[in-house]
Amino acid sequence: MSTLPLRIAPSILSADFARLGEEVAAIAAAGADYVHIDVMDGHFVPNISFGATVMRAVRGVTRLPFDVHLMISPADPYLADFAAGGADIITVHAEAGPHLHRSLQAIRALGKKAGVAINPATPVSAIQHVIDDVDLVLVMSVNPGFGGQAFIPESLAKIRQAKALIGGRAIDLEVDGGITPETAGPVVAAGANVLVAGSAIYAGNDASTYAGRIAALRTAATTRTA
Ligand code: DX5
Ligand code: ZN
Repeated sequence: MSTLPLRIAPSILSADFARLGEEVAAIAAAGADYVHIDVMDGHFVPNISFGATVMRAVRGVTRLPFDVHLMISPADPYLADFAAGGADIITVHAEAGPHLHRSLQAIRALGKKAGVAINPATPVSAIQHVIDDVDLVLVMSVNPGFGGQAFIPESLAKIRQAKALIGGRAIDLEVDGGITPETAGPVVAAGANVLVAGSAIYAGNDASTYAGRIAALRTAATTRTA
């Protein structure tokens, strides 16, 4: 089990973009811990979402931390925009450029928490030499680019490896992709403490369902001990 508090991070990728401010406010009111912000460039991943301007537009809606997942390459030219726009945690992919250490230093130099993400085919060893330069490790449990994909079971072994690498450090271990009440338990048992969920919270875009769905993830995550 992880030592850091469990955190539920709804992904606004599955929000109703026509009502984005309301959708962010709704998950804040429903008990979310982080707001997960998926930025896609149509180059690093085969889809385009939104950038710092849209993120900034909803920054005033809540004081919850903005957990920004950059699926863009290169990332470095845009880090300052996301920092200025209100990001609290900025996560770059290990695969997104040749100078990961520099990207992580740049995020911290902007006064933000630095995260590193790895795709399903990337081994945990890819981040072992930057582990003391990060505040968050993100293990992707689907191939990034789209919401609503099925959890890749092999991810559990990687979560355990990432947890072992983190050891006693105060580093969030986040898992993103296919998180549901069924997968949340095994993922947390493997060592994760931050659960990203897009469709499991936002599907149907009915705010009256959000609190129950967040609570269901929290319950599933904390009641399974295997
Ligand atoms: C995938 C994104 C995820 C996505 C998760 O590329 O990084 O954050 O929104 O969506 P679900 O929870 O539906 O798998
Ligand atoms: Zn994400």
